[in-house]
Amino acid sequence: MVPEGLMKSWPPIDHTDKEMVLASLEAGEHTYGPNSKALEEEFGAWTGMPHVLFCNSGTAALHMAVAACGCGAGDEIIVPAYTWPSSATCCLHHNAIPVFVDIAWESMNIDVARIEAAITPRTKAIIAVHLHGLPVDMDPLLAVAKRHNLRVIEDCCQAHGSSYKGLPVGSFGDCAAYSTNQNKVLCGGEGGFFTTKDPDLFEKGKTLWYFGENRPPEGAGDFHTYGMGWMYRNSDLVAAFTRAQLARIDIYIERQKENAILLSEKLSGIPHLLLPQTPEGFGHNYYNYTVRFDMKTLGHEEDAAVFRNTLVKALRAEGVDTGVWQGWPVPQMTVFQAKNGYGHGCPWSCGQTAPVDYSLDQYPVARLHSDWHTGMTVPLRFPNGSEVINGVAEAFKKVLEQADVLDQMVK
Ligand SMILES: Cc1ncc(COP(=O)(O)O)c(C=O)c1O
Repeated sequence: MVPEGLMKSWPPIDHTDKEMVLASLEAGEHTYGPNSKALEEEFGAWTGMPHVLFCNSGTAALHMAVAACGCGAGDEIIVPAYTWPSSATCCLHHNAIPVFVDIAWESMNIDVARIEAAITPRTKAIIAVHLHGLPVDMDPLLAVAKRHNLRVIEDCCQAHGSSYKGLPVGSFGDCAAYSTNQNKVLCGGEGGFFTTKDPDLFEKGKTLWYFGENRPPEGAGDFHTYGMGWMYRNSDLVAAFTRAQLARIDIYIERQKENAILLSEKLSGIPHLLLPQTPEGFGHNYYNYTVRFDMKTLGHEEDAAVFRNTLVKALRAEGVDTGVWQGWPVPQMTVFQAKNGYGHGCPWSCGQTAPVDYSLDQYPVARLHSDWHTGMTVPLRFPNGSEVINGVAEAFKKVLEQADVLDQMVK
């Protein structure tokens, strides 16, 4: 059991957060200001990216990446079938069409071996989502992209500080998107970063950032609107808070990894529990520690989601802050099943597109994962440590030992 009051909430706030936010407030530059600029430089130095734009969400950053990569009406973009909806709706925002590829069971990330079969003459890009902080197997993904001349966008919204074969995520594709919302490893309340190594892509993405396309392609801003006009800028106050958090992020991530290793040790051997695996060369930040209950051995294949919810409820009664992150594959969500983003069936019916099929039998792994998993974030976050982890492990042991009793309750 995790006793009430033991687990600390996220993010930790200290005097530096307060001082920096107050200083920004008193400085009087409340839109894009000195903290925004400094944050872009500091995040660039931390990730090794030369071009960084601070924006108001990870979703905005993904949209800028889609635009930067030249994806537009009727173009197809490959997206994993299990992720946060923004990884797919960012395509719709630019009238592009997401084509979903199932995930791999072990990694919970896109099944790279299945990407090639989903490529059509309309495919323009692949969105590689480093889900839960575990990097996608980038070498084979980049090889497929190269063979078919596709852009690669990395969704790093959950993957601050993760690495693949020694290099930071975000450095493999054409551009990347990060989120800094409340729950993220780097928290500013709300926010995000669009990053790239390519100055041309940076300029293209940036056109969406500040009322979008408010200048002629080669000229300076003249407040005449030349295009759609989005507003993805963030404020100096948020930048000040995010800077204070960024200064401590390495300590946060270190603790998160230690906690994950300890938790895996403690949970190892508990019947019916399938633990997350980190292959050699993959640097997981453990943004979200996700396990699966083996519904086969538990005898609940038919009603897996219902029984999983019962187990989650029992764990929560033991003080474990665990939940169901996404209960559906993304293509199962209404906007995709109804194919109606902007009304009248657009963008799928906009005349530039080819038919796409979102029938759910194409995503068996994403469906199974949706029903069998539970995941945790805050129990592994700094300053929580071994006391919380021990409590979490004890609770899992107790609940799974009593699975038969819970089974009777469900029936
Ligand atoms: C994988 C992934 N992509 C995109 C996003 C969108 O980020 P934001 O909430 O900052 O728009 C999130 C946020 O939860 C996410 O987890």
